[in-house]
Amino acid sequence: MNWYEENPAPINADLIQSQVQSFCSLHHQKRSIVLVTSGGTTIPFEKNTVRFIDNFSQGTRGSASTEYFLQDEDMAVIFLYRSTTLRPFVRHFAHTNFLEMLQRDPQDLSQLQVKSEHVSKVMTTWQDYQKVKMNNRLLEVGFTTLTDYLWYLKIVCQTLKPLGARALLYLAAAVSDFYIPRQDMAEHKLQSSEGAPTVQLKMVPKMLAPLVMDWVPQAFVVSFKLETDESILLSKARKALQTYKHSLVVANLLESRKERVILVEASSEDLILMSVEELSKGHEIEEKIVQNLLTKFKKKLES
Ligand code: PMT
Repeated sequence: MNWYEENPAPINADLIQSQVQSFCSLHHQKRSIVLVTSGGTTIPFEKNTVRFIDNFSQGTRGSASTEYFLQDEDMAVIFLYRSTTLRPFVRHFAHTNFLEMLQRDPQDLSQLQVKSEHVSKVMTTWQDYQKVKMNNRLLEVGFTTLTDYLWYLKIVCQTLKPLGARALLYLAAAVSDFYIPRQDMAEHKLQSSEGAPTVQLKMVPKMLAPLVMDWVPQAFVVSFKLETDESILLSKARKALQTYKHSLVVANLLESRKERVILVEASSEDLILMSVEELSKGHEIEEKIVQNLLTKFKKKLES
C-alpha cells in the first residue's frame, strides 16, 4: 500500500482541487505558475488532536519569496502554507499589535485611521497587495498536518501538470520525515495517568520521487536542503539532485539561512550572500534567490 492509500484525503480535498483548477485555468494561457510551499507540518498524536509534533519553520522564506515572485507580472503563485505561519504582504505586520496602529480620526470620531508613523508602510504594502489581487495572481491554501500537506501537494502538482515547463515548484516547507500512522493513533487525548506513552514513528516517503517522475515531469523543480552541520550540507544537496534528478537544490544551514544559501545544480553552484549593510537596510536574501531562479527558469523555458 502506498502512503496515499493508507492516509485518506482531507475532507476539503475536492474544494481545494476545484480552487486550484480555477486558478490554473485563469492563468494557463498567459502566465507561468509557481507553487511555493511554506512552514512546517504537524504530526498529530491523537485522532482528536490535542498534542502534536511540530518544527521551527516560521514560513519567512516562503512568504517573502512569494512577494518577490509576484513582482514579476508574468508569474502567478499558489502559496501552500502552514496555517499559523507567515503569509505574503500581511507578514510585514505580523509582529505589530494591529490595534496599536490605529487611532480615532480627529475630524470624525466615529472613524478610525492609521497612525502617521505607520502610514507609509501600510500604504506601500497595501498597494503591492492590490496589484496582485487585481489580477488574481495569488492563491493561498492553508494546511496544518503532514497529511493535509502531502494531499494538497499532490493535488496542486497534478493540476499544474498541463502547464509543462511553465510550472515552477519552490518547495521551501519543512516537511516531516516521520509520522504516526492513523491506525496507530489513540482516538482521544492521551492520559497522563496512564504514564508516558511509547510512540513508534514511521518514515514518510520522500514525495520528491513521484513528484519529479510522475506528477510534474516537465516542471522546474527547486527543493531545499536544510542541515545544522555544515560539513554534510553540500554532499546531501548533491545527493538529492542525483537521486531525484530535478532542477536545483537550495542548500541552507539553520543558523545562517537568512544570510547565506547555495544554489546547487548538476554542474554548478551559486553562492548567495547578504552583506551586513544589506541586512541592516532590511534587504532579504529571498529577493536574490528568486531573481537568480527566475533567470534560470526563463532561460530554460526559452531554450
Ligand atoms: O520557514 P523559515 O523559518 O523561513 O525557514 C526556511 C527553511 C529553513 C524551512 C527552508 O529554507 C528550508 O530549508 N526548507 C526545507 C526544509 C526541509 O524539509 O529539508 P529536508 O532536508 O528535510 O527535505 C529536503 C526536501 O525534501 C524538501 O524540499 C522537502 O520538500 C522534501 N521532502 C521532505 C520530506 C518528505 N517526506 N518528502 C519530501 O519530498
